[in-house]
Amino acid sequence: MNQSTDTLAPLSSAPEAEDGPSRYFVTSFGCQMNVYDGERMGEMLAAQGMQAAASREDADLVILNTCHIREKAVARVYSDIGRLKRDDGSKPMIAVAGCVAQAEGEEIARRAPSVDIVVGPQAYHRLPQLIEQARHNTLAGSKKAAIDTDMPAVTKFAALPVRAKQPRPSAFLTVQEGCDKFCTYCVVPYTRGAEISRPFADLVDEAKALVDGGVKEITLLGQNVNAWTGTDAKGRHQGLEGLIEQLAEMPGLARIRYTTSHPNDMTDGLIAAHRDIAKLMPYLHLPVQSGSDRILKAMNRSHTAASYLAIIDKVRRSRPDIALSGDFIVGFPGETEADFEATLDIVRAANYAQAYSFKYSPRPGTPAADMEDQISPEIMDERLQRLQDLLNTQQQAFNQTTVGERTQVLLERQGRKPGQLVGKSPWLQSVHVMADGARIGDLIDVELVSAGPNSLEGRALTLVNA
Ligand code: 5AD
Ligand code: SF4
Repeated sequence: MNQSTDTLAPLSSAPEAEDGPSRYFVTSFGCQMNVYDGERMGEMLAAQGMQAAASREDADLVILNTCHIREKAVARVYSDIGRLKRDDGSKPMIAVAGCVAQAEGEEIARRAPSVDIVVGPQAYHRLPQLIEQARHNTLAGSKKAAIDTDMPAVTKFAALPVRAKQPRPSAFLTVQEGCDKFCTYCVVPYTRGAEISRPFADLVDEAKALVDGGVKEITLLGQNVNAWTGTDAKGRHQGLEGLIEQLAEMPGLARIRYTTSHPNDMTDGLIAAHRDIAKLMPYLHLPVQSGSDRILKAMNRSHTAASYLAIIDKVRRSRPDIALSGDFIVGFPGETEADFEATLDIVRAANYAQAYSFKYSPRPGTPAADMEDQISPEIMDERLQRLQDLLNTQQQAFNQTTVGERTQVLLERQGRKPGQLVGKSPWLQSVHVMADGARIGDLIDVELVSAGPNSLEGRALTLVNA
């Protein structure tokens, strides 16, 4: 339901007020699910007749699609709002969407009176009405922002238009949202709500629309993507591997990925899919967060270091070349040097191809924010550095092991040199290749010839479009 709130906002002098905005610009922060949401907001506004602006300056509606996961991300939103004011004193209509909108609601409009719309991640299908409401508020001289942070029982997806033609060969598809795990440091269960799985048939339809629009690779997204469940056309209960199996039958779709997974939902069926389904890429993002059982318990992760390593073992037996990725938090409250050493140990044991690591950031309303023994920033910095040094060494070593491989690269963008294109290997590495005549969206055979820490060089062999 739409709500509105009194703010101390001065009247917006936005030029869009009379007719409503006509050119939108969306900036998404944070995770891939936010990127997906940002794209869907854009597609919805385009379906309403608005145009995508080339830049924020050129837009009369700017949507900041925000992330609440760490404090820094939140601070960025407020500085960004401030920078939207133009030299002549005017400003575009400003919408704050995403997880900060959900978590802070009216507080945003109080703290940043130039904000016209606040819309949560489960309510953005109502953006057109909120824009209308904001426009009316402005015209009527009201100081209200249009706010909608509802989490409706019927999900937004049914209200969104069919996927538009995509600008890139690789697309995201959100299949699952929310989280019931309640890790003690994490805001996601509060900002995104309870775990929901989108229906099987809707996902097949959306994938088909993406492929019809030229997409070759789909990454299935969810905060706990491997918790997805559904019922197929024959009425059979399916886990994520069942959905992947069905999508793999779609002509034109060459590659399937999924992210992010929780260790506890890593079923034998999904692990076997990595062996059995050729289109499922050999890459797994499986966050462990810490290698210390004591810290994992305090985090409410409900797995241990050993149970995590046992899963990795199974995955590697199923798909020996899997590129393993993960997330780590250093400096969780109470983390001792010995706990941190256990994290380094699990990194050594698991051997990552690539990983993300963060300093713990206390988030308001989460249990960990009130725990004793918060770790000093200096210790966090030092631990993060040591962890990242180890992860970088592993990444470089992984890249090196793939040199000499003959594999396929999906070309995603032009490179810096003439005739150079950049794409992704099956292991999600960036590969630069001289491929005169090849186009973005081509899947080409390459030999990987050299590796750096962040990308590889490939030599083009032949074109192999799906
Ligand atoms: N502080 C630091 N990192 C966090 N993450 C989630 N919450 C926090 C927090 N409060 C990290 C986890 C998660 C990733 C998306 O962000 O590693 O897997
Ligand atoms: Fe957050 Fe834990 Fe849920 Fe991941 S599993 S979204 S870290 S609560």
